[in-house]
Amino acid sequence: MAESMKGLKRTHRCGELSAANIGEKVTVMGWVQKQRNKGGIIFVDLRDRAGILQIIFEETDCGAEHFAKAEKLRSEFVAAVTGRVEKRAGAVNENLATGEIEVRAESLRILSEAETPPFPIEENSRTKEELRLKYRYLDLRRPDLQRNLMLRSQMTAAVHTFLKEEGFLEVETPILNKSTPEGARDYLVPSRIHQGCFYALPQSPQIFKQLLMCSGYDRYFQIAKCFRDEDLRADRQPEFTQIDLEMSFVDMEDVLDVTERMVAKVCKETVGLEVSLPLKRMTWDEAMNRFGSDKPDTRFGMELTDVSETVKGCGFGVFTGALEAGGSVRGINVKGQAEMPRKKIDALVEFAKGYGVKGLAYLAVLPDGSYKSSFAKFMTEEELKALVTAMGGEPGDLLLFAADKLKLVWSVLGALRVELAKQLGLVDDNQYNFLWVTEFPQFEWSDEEERYMAMHHPFTMPMEEDLEILETDPGKVRAKAYDIVVNGMELGGGSVRIFQSDIQERMFEALGFTKEKAHEQFGFLLDAFQYGVPPHAGLAIGLERFVMLLAQTDNIRDVIAFPKIKDASCLMSDAPGKVEEKQLEELHLQVTE
Ligand code: AMO
Ligand code: AMP
Repeated sequence: MAESMKGLKRTHRCGELSAANIGEKVTVMGWVQKQRNKGGIIFVDLRDRAGILQIIFEETDCGAEHFAKAEKLRSEFVAAVTGRVEKRAGAVNENLATGEIEVRAESLRILSEAETPPFPIEENSRTKEELRLKYRYLDLRRPDLQRNLMLRSQMTAAVHTFLKEEGFLEVETPILNKSTPEGARDYLVPSRIHQGCFYALPQSPQIFKQLLMCSGYDRYFQIAKCFRDEDLRADRQPEFTQIDLEMSFVDMEDVLDVTERMVAKVCKETVGLEVSLPLKRMTWDEAMNRFGSDKPDTRFGMELTDVSETVKGCGFGVFTGALEAGGSVRGINVKGQAEMPRKKIDALVEFAKGYGVKGLAYLAVLPDGSYKSSFAKFMTEEELKALVTAMGGEPGDLLLFAADKLKLVWSVLGALRVELAKQLGLVDDNQYNFLWVTEFPQFEWSDEEERYMAMHHPFTMPMEEDLEILETDPGKVRAKAYDIVVNGMELGGGSVRIFQSDIQERMFEALGFTKEKAHEQFGFLLDAFQYGVPPHAGLAIGLERFVMLLAQTDNIRDVIAFPKIKDASCLMSDAPGKVEEKQLEELHLQVTE
């Protein structure tokens, strides 16, 4: 039986009431968290997104009819209660914002009854995520998820306010687009009217925001939905949201300045986190050499050391072989872990192999100065001593080495460093190390495609001082590209764009595009550039990653109302699904086995 709320008006949210309301007559509405019947007195915890409120029913206050209704209340029933706020008679509940008070009910309406939910609606649920995602609408009732989504809303509101104050215009760009390969795989939408043709969903508004600069919009922003059909990880979703911006008549410094002030303001206004500005900066070279990563976590040390010179000509074939093949030998010093059990070291070796190296060499400097090592027997005492010295090794330290192509050595030691810091508890969860990584390489060699690929995208401006080697030594060209990084996560990235057609042409050439191919893919942008284009630059921040950071979760699904799982499906709606034969026909499509 569902009653109507005719004639009733909610006066407060449950969680908004406090001692300041004592004596007031209020009407609250929400979901029953718990009902406890103690005979002549019934306690009900009523929940809404503001919090939980204790209600007391006694027949003398609310009369027999309403008391009988209160007896029927079960978890997740929706109820409306009118009553008076009182100081809590029982013990104050420190865990609740409303813990000092309770509402003495005078009347009750049951607005909706509820089946027993498939799992308890409670904070820090221990229910398996698959089950929660199937019933996401119930999962979303949980206070932790509600807090995350409220935080997300506060953050986008703060972004809007800040960017509007800074003179940015909000412009929406289309979702149904032409496919312009940008790195990830496109999501395609078949056209009904144009047989055999497809729209692509935007991987980002990149081309449109550059066109808006050509059109004189000067400072653009958008909280933009983006779609990428790529392999999902803990911080990736097939559809996600960017805080996307672009500015005209600016250089890199202007973009970094606006962005870091925006990030600092959002952190301060939503969770009270102080971010001190200007943010630190590090070149890509420095980040790779010190941390083995272009998104370094600088909350702990264990930096990489290049020992290639030291081990040149030593007796250990794995090291010298890698060097002769043009590779590198580098190590990390895991302080005080010389006594790490063999089993744990073996697990680290396996972890390293997961990154593609053939092995991981270790050298433990025992407290008595002797060594325990996988390779010491191949080296002389002098060679070992030199190696330990180069690594800053002291008795008690565990030294780990990888020998391979430099790129691989970076990635394996970079990952190992993060893994070990986690295992050894070296990470301070309350520290937020924001920094800019700058001077990215312009190109990345692709063995697969046998050509240079743009590391950011083909419209990224090279550093002026490197323009002269664009043709002769492309691998060394640095780009005016930048990433904002925090605690080992890439929060966002962007670049200064090429606005000179001669440089753009040289860029396409370096990337192996013919004139025709470049025009086929980016024709309208290149055409637009013929009609007066301002110097421009921009950046995009991954909104979900930003919310994850401030919500202190490492699961991207915790900050999205209706997320997808690893295989890009939705457990609640079962998307993607089959469609009617008739729909396929209209779209001129046939499904083959
Ligand atoms: P980029 O591809 O680096 O740049 O993307 C910018 C930011 O978007 C976030 N992001 C994602 N978040 C969740 N799931 C994903 N699958 C995903 N992919 C990316 C990241 C990333 O740093 N148009 C350029 C920006 C520019 O040059 O202005 C762009 O899209 O936080
Ligand atoms: P092996 O001679 O292959 O038995 O290797 C001797 C030691 O070197 C073992 O501890 C291996 O794990 C390690 N090792 C093998 N390949 C590499 C590599 N590319 N980098 C670092 N160590 C390696």
